Amino acid sequence: MAKETIKESKAKTATTAKASAKSAPKSTAKAAAKAMPAKKTAKKKKSATAAKVKPAVKRVAIVGFGFMGRMHFGHWKKQRGFEVVALCDKNTAQFTEGIEGGNLAGADNSTDYGKAVIYDDFDKMLAEAKPDVIALTLPTPLHVPLTVQALKAGVSVLCEKPMALNAKLCNEMVAAAAEAPDGAQLMVGHCLRFWPCYTYLKKLIDTQKYGSVVAASFKRYSAMPGWGKGANWFMDESKSGGVALDLHIHDADMVNFLFGMPKSVTSSANYNSDGLMTFITTLYDVGDAVVSAEGCWAMTQSFGFEASYMVTFENAVAVMNTNAADALVVYPAKGKKFVPKLKAGDGYAHEIKWFADKLKGLEVEPVITPEQSRDSVRIIDAEKRSAKSGRKVAL
Ligand SMILES: NC(=O)c1ccc[n+]([C@@H]2O[C@H](COP(=O)([O-])OP(=O)(O)OC[C@H]3O[C@@H](n4cnc5c(N)ncnc54)[C@H](O)[C@@H]3O)[C@@H](O)[C@H]2O)c1
Repeated sequence: MAKETIKESKAKTATTAKASAKSAPKSTAKAAAKAMPAKKTAKKKKSATAAKVKPAVKRVAIVGFGFMGRMHFGHWKKQRGFEVVALCDKNTAQFTEGIEGGNLAGADNSTDYGKAVIYDDFDKMLAEAKPDVIALTLPTPLHVPLTVQALKAGVSVLCEKPMALNAKLCNEMVAAAAEAPDGAQLMVGHCLRFWPCYTYLKKLIDTQKYGSVVAASFKRYSAMPGWGKGANWFMDESKSGGVALDLHIHDADMVNFLFGMPKSVTSSANYNSDGLMTFITTLYDVGDAVVSAEGCWAMTQSFGFEASYMVTFENAVAVMNTNAADALVVYPAKGKKFVPKLKAGDGYAHEIKWFADKLKGLEVEPVITPEQSRDSVRIIDAEKRSAKSGRKVAL
């Protein structure tokens, strides 16, 4: 599956310009220079000198070196103009033992950390490693305090989803991002907004290629996450927010991304004997289309993980399933079914490149803001209230 063309085309233009400059015979280049008015030639020389000044390499720290920390490490290592200088986890065994499990492949499980310095304390890491950007891949309760601390110190943060345990707490991060010194920026890692089979769907909806959406359903079914060492913080509703906030938020955020903020939600949920929500299904009022999503943490370990969507347009059906031979198939009203060619790479790779480009000051498509990330937590807050009360909850 898994999410900038402006930058890519700029890079292409630059490469083409370089190539044609190289291939131009010297005499032609000289003649062209002669034909130029003197003032313009001088200007051109100046910008050529400026282009030689290399921008400083940005320093990256990964904080929280569990499943998602290793996922980020693998991708940040590949970003041009960035260097991973610090890895921080309070449990240093994470650096020697690697991880087990995780619901998606792609986490970097090597123990070759290059030049990165290992820390077990966030404050020490911040003071000594002096990062420009932090990938914050910590248990959810730590997202707000450590993101706010980093932003106040002028350090940009890519914080994993969910932004925080509730929308009120998210507002602290939104405010810190708005007031951050030194151009520090905040992104929340809603990777589905960058995942090719979802970006493909967004394009179908935005362009109305097959007409309007009649109905859309999104599903995310998983066994209980349990790759964390020691006490499993995911199983504590007060730490993970249960299946609604931790897993199902991916699809709630997708509903927000594709159809805008719902007017109301109507949810039904199931809880285990410890009061942890393990299943939720929700109907979203987004106008004419009938849109629903469900999330489950009650699957067996032998089932593992499956995400899917089925979107019925006036003139086509788009079906995605991560466990199918062809993850995405489109069934148009006219003509045969087909498997669309998707952009290579997963959502993590695209989201991290998007943020890295943004931090480099390159133009990127508007995909996600801290406010939108907060709004997706607002949706989950409303879903939880609806599931508890058995009533529709307005947003
Ligand atoms: N985007 C996605 O698809 C996706 C998938 C899984 C998890 N997540 C999110 O990523 C975040 C992390 O989840 P995970 O699965 O990596 O969890 P994890 O338990 O595997 O890793 C968390 C790590 O943080 C470390 N830690 C805890 N407190 C710390 C502290 N004070 N200082 C430094 N290190 C500390 C732990 O030792 C652990 O290694 C969660 O918010 C989760 O919801 C996102």
